[in-house]
Amino acid sequence: MASKKLFLLPGDGIGPEAMGEVKKLIAAMNQKFASGFEIDEGLVGGSAYDAHGQAISEDDMAKALAADAVLFGAVGGPKWDAVPYEVRPEAGLLRLRKDLELFANLRPAICYPALAASSSLKQEVVEGLDILIVRELTGGVYFGEPKEIIDLGNGQKRGIDTQVYDTFEIERISGVAFELARTRRNHVTSMEKRNVMKSGVLWNEVVTATHKAKYADVKLDHMLADAGGMQLVRWPKQFDVIVTDNLFGDMLSDIAAMLTGSIGMLPSASLGAPDAKTGKRKALYEPVHGSAPDIAGQGIANPIAMLASFGMCLRYSFGMVEEAARLDAAIAAVLDSGLRTRDIMSDGMTEVGTVAMGDAIIARFLA
Ligand code: NAD
Ligand code: IPM
Ligand code: MN
Repeated sequence: MASKKLFLLPGDGIGPEAMGEVKKLIAAMNQKFASGFEIDEGLVGGSAYDAHGQAISEDDMAKALAADAVLFGAVGGPKWDAVPYEVRPEAGLLRLRKDLELFANLRPAICYPALAASSSLKQEVVEGLDILIVRELTGGVYFGEPKEIIDLGNGQKRGIDTQVYDTFEIERISGVAFELARTRRNHVTSMEKRNVMKSGVLWNEVVTATHKAKYADVKLDHMLADAGGMQLVRWPKQFDVIVTDNLFGDMLSDIAAMLTGSIGMLPSASLGAPDAKTGKRKALYEPVHGSAPDIAGQGIANPIAMLASFGMCLRYSFGMVEEAARLDAAIAAVLDSGLRTRDIMSDGMTEVGTVAMGDAIIARFLA
């Protein structure tokens, strides 16, 4: 059997609580189906800073690089607000993305039927929603240089971040979006701000050229990213796959999260390029939400985004498509049965905590 080495980085806040449910699922799969997952675990974010003054240790970075897939919880929290910028909790996640070259971040926003009525948007707007945001993850303003605060010497300082994109970065992320669209409804909407940004002009040009050269069978639209945000809440079902840069993708995926009922519902996969010899991709799977300091430690976090991220791991890293579909179906069935964590609670439903929600989903999955 091919190896299935998972490296778990639960992180901070609700990260470990949500990861606890994934660990139970992995143990159950190993026991019941002899799935053969090997688990190792490390520290990231504030918990890594507390242990050794870095947002992730070299040792844990090496383990992440060697694993077949990394499962990541969440990082950050007020406890680490004052630590130096270079070692702030979020730096651990950004280093993982950069060093593993995880340039393609897939963020599906699916509205489960049971939650259509509890969205903050009208039911008809979100019912049946199934869109995919493909966010570029290793470039743009997150990593562009210079990135600094300089002292202007006159009592003023200047904060600088630099948005940079090269042709190859736009080509490869748009290729991922077009390939995925072919497996879905064959429609890509590219979002940038070519009316203001040079990188937006290049983005638009390269997506258009890539489409023409290799993916002319896919329907392609372009939209300015601010209008895209508006359209996402006006009529999100017009979209199939959205491809966009690192910062716009960050914001647009948080907006898309609310279409599904809660940010506690949104999983993600961050993928590298396929290895030339083995075809295997480096990969990290994480919920879109953060460490939720306001609810951490209370046992009420929604574990669905984390569990569904593991579902994406089954699908993309191990080709376990049936198991991934069964996990999605188990989540849908448990929501249909009326169980809700507090973030998705509505009248007449039964409120449960993180562990009870996880238990119910795992039981359905195994049944
Ligand atoms: P957040 O996603 O942590 O929380 C936003 C709101 O959503 C909070 O009210 C929270 O309680 C709620 N929420 C989030 N996940 C939930 C879940 N699973 N179940 C129920 N409710 C949930 O975002 P924030 O408050 O802006 O950031 C908190 C910290 O997390 C910051 O330090 C930020 O940098 C970090 N962060 C980390 C990641 C990550 O690790 N990938 C992502 C986003 C934010
Ligand atoms: C996300 C998060 C991260 C980002 C932070 C924690 C670095 O918000 O994954 O969406 O901005 O990419
Ligand atoms: Mn974000």
